Amino acid sequence: MTYQPNSIVVGDCIQVLRQAAAEGLRADLVFADPPFNIGYVYDVYEDAKAYDEYYAWTRDWMAACAGVLKPNGSFWIAIGDEYAAEIRILGRQLGLTLRNWVIWHYTFGQATKRKFARCHAHLFYFTKHPKEFTFNDMAVRVPSARQMNYADARANPNGKVPDDVWSISRVCGTFTERVEWHPCQMPEKILDRILRASSNEGDLVMDPFNGSGTTAAAAARLGRQYFTVDISDTYVAESHKRIADTLAGKRPLVELSENPHKKRKVNTLEDKLRRQAEDAREKALARAAKRAKPLQIRRSVLDIPPTAATTTDVATKRVGRPRKKRPTNDPTESTTTVKPPKTDGLTPHSLFD
Ligand SMILES: C[S@@+](CC[C@H](N)C(=O)[O-])C[C@H]1O[C@@H](n2cnc3c(N)ncnc32)[C@H](O)[C@@H]1O
Repeated sequence: MTYQPNSIVVGDCIQVLRQAAAEGLRADLVFADPPFNIGYVYDVYEDAKAYDEYYAWTRDWMAACAGVLKPNGSFWIAIGDEYAAEIRILGRQLGLTLRNWVIWHYTFGQATKRKFARCHAHLFYFTKHPKEFTFNDMAVRVPSARQMNYADARANPNGKVPDDVWSISRVCGTFTERVEWHPCQMPEKILDRILRASSNEGDLVMDPFNGSGTTAAAAARLGRQYFTVDISDTYVAESHKRIADTLAGKRPLVELSENPHKKRKVNTLEDKLRRQAEDAREKALARAAKRAKPLQIRRSVLDIPPTAATTTDVATKRVGRPRKKRPTNDPTESTTTVKPPKTDGLTPHSLFD
């Protein structure tokens, strides 16, 4: 028996789904985040197929997913720019209805020099039936601009359904949510919103590309059943631990944030480039700091009372040069000229966002 509720199966998703369909698997919601065919480094899967091969494979796994979807089910697919158009066309060929083409806008995009930095991916929201499907608007509403910015009495007190551009940070290498053993983890916030909107408690959520187990973890947290597949037995074994930790309350769903105690690991070319950019920036700033004239510090900032003993400027004293005084009427505002250090024109944003 391939299909069991609340399980993660090791195998090729197309084969597993065909077999599970024959065993009666019917999902209320499918979420699929396939490899994007952009050369990511997975432990088993080779993420660099020829165009025709990847296209044919995409058509086959989409058909296999649609085959296990209930007549009123929803089918969400995450994809990059490279194959977004193909997914949209394949969805139409499979008879699916496109409800939204959501743009996931993320921060920590890649630094670029010869084009604008990409900071988005696509989230296709299809339904099998054009009119009958689950959409729990009350479960995903957010505060509206009328409420937040304008204190408008006409604002709906329940807030509004989110727009179709979602600004949610990627799960960066140093974030608390990050697992160390998978290269491209989807933020659980995204799955949380999708599952709340497109499924009900007790519903079955299926993910053909389990990866780090984000869909299964979100389903477990929200009281949905899950059935997911991955070709890597390592990812599946680790995902079981992640789900156990989630259910034990050890992985609360928090705002995505840096974990300062976590060391960064180079998992992808993207990470490597980002680290190189960070290193270059740090070196440039260190060089600039060495060349810089000493900073003069405003006494009011130091919070030192203006006594005779403290009339010598701290920075000036360090290099033994006489302090230049600027006329001021405020005894606490004893200041001299401040020159910023030279930075070769580099700013944090010129190299790395
Ligand atoms: C982009 S990742 C999924 C990431 C996941 N959404 C998460 O949040 O962690 C794609 C996953 O698909 C798996 N995979 C690749 N080919 C597969 C196949 N034919 N069947 C099942 N899984 C496959 C890879 O091992 C990888 O873990």
